[in-house]
Amino acid sequence: MYKRQVRAVDVAKTVELILESRSIVIVPGYGLAVAQAQHGVSDITKRLRDRGIKVRFAIHPVAGRLPGHMNVLLAEAKIPYDIVHEMEEINPDLPAVDLVLVIGANDIVNPSAQDDPASPIAGMPVLEVWKSRTVIVMKRGMASGYAGVENPLFYRDNTLMLFGDAKKNIDAIAGVLAAKEPPASPHA
Ligand code: TAP
Repeated sequence: MYKRQVRAVDVAKTVELILESRSIVIVPGYGLAVAQAQHGVSDITKRLRDRGIKVRFAIHPVAGRLPGHMNVLLAEAKIPYDIVHEMEEINPDLPAVDLVLVIGANDIVNPSAQDDPASPIAGMPVLEVWKSRTVIVMKRGMASGYAGVENPLFYRDNTLMLFGDAKKNIDAIAGVLAAKEPPASPHA
């Protein structure tokens, strides 16, 4: 059905792919909340927008464990409201997106909700991240999410896995991006 191997990437390769992208969508999930990675994500967002990269957030209605969980986290981290989009709004745009960063999310990006009528989550609306050019999924290992189902997204040809705690990896990405920025001009 789908290959049983995943392709892992490291932080350096992730930054390379990020900097090659013109349009990026970030999908936050429960793991981002657990890791408390929202401030690092905000920092990365600012750095990328300063470089002219289009960054948007895609919010699934049941992402996390509470209604509005992700919106609260992103607002707390001062991520601008106008780049935060609901699922129905952003799904049609995903085929034109260069890179999707899935951060600590699982069930809400599971294509078997659409492809597998026998799946326990069959029929659940999902974020169609696999339609973008490349997907990087950040999570600690291969554990399932709340629904306890396997996720074929992880095995797709255009999916890469960045394993580890979301905060640790996000902070590392922010660090590499900061190191690649030119020093501030003394006359600025
Ligand atoms: P989940 O499907 O639960 O997936 C979260 C993923 O985060 C896990 O697979 C886990 O994988 C990863 N993770 C956990 N800690 C992490 C960390 N420190 N760093 C990086 N990754 C971490 O979350 P989702 O995609 O947000 O979906 C929400 C689920 O909760 C849905 O099934 C939904 O129906 C259910 N639910 C939602 C609500 C509301 S109102 N939002 C209420 C009840 C239930 P690893 O362990 O491999 O890292």
